[in-house]
Amino acid sequence: MTDADLPASSPDFASFQYEIYAAGLIDQRPALPVSAEQLQQSAKQQLSPEAYGYVAGGAGSERTMRANLDAFERWRIVPRMLRDVSLRDLTTSVLGTSMPAPLMLAPVGVQSIVHPDAELAAARAAARAAAAHGLPFILSTAASHSIEQVAEAMGQARRWYQLYWPRERRLAASFVGRAERAGYEAIVLTLDTWFLGWRPRDLANAYLPFLKGEGVANYFSDPVFRAALEKPPEEDPGPAIGHWAYQFANPTVTWEDIEWLREQTRLPIVLKGIVHAEDARRAVDAGVDGLLVSNHGGRQVDGSLGALDALPAIREAVGGELALLFDSGVRTGADVFKALALGADAVCIGRPYVWGLALDGQPGVEHVLRWLLAELDLTLALSGYTSVAQVAAEALVPAP
Ligand SMILES: Cc1cc2nc3c(=O)[nH]c(=O)nc-3n(C[C@H](O)[C@H](O)[C@H](O)COP(=O)(O)O)c2cc1C
Repeated sequence: MTDADLPASSPDFASFQYEIYAAGLIDQRPALPVSAEQLQQSAKQQLSPEAYGYVAGGAGSERTMRANLDAFERWRIVPRMLRDVSLRDLTTSVLGTSMPAPLMLAPVGVQSIVHPDAELAAARAAARAAAAHGLPFILSTAASHSIEQVAEAMGQARRWYQLYWPRERRLAASFVGRAERAGYEAIVLTLDTWFLGWRPRDLANAYLPFLKGEGVANYFSDPVFRAALEKPPEEDPGPAIGHWAYQFANPTVTWEDIEWLREQTRLPIVLKGIVHAEDARRAVDAGVDGLLVSNHGGRQVDGSLGALDALPAIREAVGGELALLFDSGVRTGADVFKALALGADAVCIGRPYVWGLALDGQPGVEHVLRWLLAELDLTLALSGYTSVAQVAAEALVPAP
């Protein structure tokens, strides 16, 4: 192909690197690091030990956090050559939500402990990422800004809502109804957090931000929650926080309750935290629409399997019947590629974007998303692929 034959380029995420090199000509270095590890180190310098420990830490010995990273080490990409990779198409669609690349922002609660703009900044960054289209943002129930505030900050940009199932069904129904009315396009029900995992870093600091009134905005703004209080939370926060502690989680929930949730909403339902193929099959029978294969970033069951290790068997178990998302341990564009190859339809980013938020609010999150998109685009191209749909198991071999 001659130069003249080259087609006009598609959204060129990879070109972010030339922007960085060009700035080098006037002696400018990127304002923030371009690797997850360095971002974390920089954020550590900036955050209080309590806030840093809350985000960085995991359950128990933190072996599961390491297992998440190690699981990616066990696979190697096998690049293919001479396939014309000048134009790439990273677009995809999951459960009716179209996205410019198979990347979403994982639900991360209580972001106010790392930056005052918290979820508003992260949601705006998601909305602005990847040119005009934006990457979908999953808002946590445990957020520091409400369902409605985040929706307003995002405008038309795509968003899903993550539900922590509270003690009372009527509060669950209220959260889901609010999300539906505020333009969220799916409900992600988290199943692995009926109790907080044993987290030594937070225990050593005796630090649980919710008890200080952080990360409770969705509860304090909810009519059902407020109706149970004698005085509004603004007037008397103590009992409101006590009621939060009562409502936060409901460990009695079983598969039968999923049927009830199915009846509460017309939105697609995604179960987050599934890591066993039998649970995945059960989810098909329960009539849900998707799964988010995840171990909560190693924050819940110390010693549990790396999340990526669970993915191939779950894809095999559900075939094409359910959409599959993945998170836990994704740190690079190559990691995203590997998760796609092992069966994920899209991949959620967790801690790396939170470090970006800690360092520079909205622009910090935008920076992280831009380099992840660039690295994914380059990994795709240099491995010989031009669309995410082409990426399958044969793109990988087990590491020697
Ligand atoms: C500080 C922090 C808060 C989190 N809060 C939530 C939450 O409110 N709801 C939820 O479903 N998952 C929550 N998660 C888990 C993430 O959605 C995701 O599963 C995890 O971050 C993936 O692991 P990774 O960040 O190591 O890649 C949280 C994770 C972190 C680090």
